[in-house]
Amino acid sequence: MFESIKQAVSLVKELEAKERIQSYVLTGAGISKGSGIPTFRGEDGLWDTYDFEEVATLEGWMRNPEKIWLMYQEGIHQIFDAKPNAAHKALVELEKNGYCHYIITQNVDSLHQKAGSENVIEVHGNIARIKCIICGKFQQLKETPKIVPPMCSCGGMMRPDVTLFNEPLPEDEITKSFEIANKANLVLIVGTSAEVYPAARLPSISKKNGAKIIVFNFEQTEHVNIADSFIEGKSEKTLPIFIEMLLNR
Ligand code: APR
Repeated sequence: MFESIKQAVSLVKELEAKERIQSYVLTGAGISKGSGIPTFRGEDGLWDTYDFEEVATLEGWMRNPEKIWLMYQEGIHQIFDAKPNAAHKALVELEKNGYCHYIITQNVDSLHQKAGSENVIEVHGNIARIKCIICGKFQQLKETPKIVPPMCSCGGMMRPDVTLFNEPLPEDEITKSFEIANKANLVLIVGTSAEVYPAARLPSISKKNGAKIIVFNFEQTEHVNIADSFIEGKSEKTLPIFIEMLLNR
């Protein structure tokens, strides 16, 4: 692990010596595993427990919104109780020291914002934000709703403001993400299986434009095939070491 981290650090230093760093970090559920939030795939993944067709697709929502709300009611406390881990905090350091300009996250758990990251783009929405399916009014959940589904004052049903499968991603967020990906010369990818598009496509766009790619994961993913550096391990362990070495601490 140390060898690969050292190699990644020198890759960033060489880039920094040549040109101004324009970077983003693409994160997935793996970065929050260290905070006690389950991932979707892999060991103990949510999609082994729940049928994602039933609870994570637009069709499933239309068929049975109560079922989705019951699943959220069961699990959402993990999100409210979760604290940012050392990986989230390492990305705040990266941002403060000019090595990370944006965090493009597929996560809906607000842990990057809780850790103190500023430029966070949530391409799959945020689970603590709910919206009325009739009037579109938003509300911010502070705790697990006691009555599900929560209803809007207009009489409409509220739904979690997260992107379900077969739904378009939030337009501003994904447009901005592609613009960032097009301009970047450094991409860090942390804790994503690279299986869900269009977010998974962002690093290949950057790669085509000559960007350096560093993957932090403990399994081989599609992104490792385009990576200049693959740091194998848990990001809550590897990212802090990477930052320490990069900042010569
Ligand atoms: N450190 C680093 N990587 C980890 C860790 C960890 N501690 N724990 C798990 N991982 C890796 C796994 O190896 C896997 O590659 O994180 C990845 C998690 O993959 P997924 O569960 O598929 O999560 P993600 O890639 O974010 O899924 C993308 O799919 O279901 C949809 O909308 C959902 O946003 C989600 C999207």
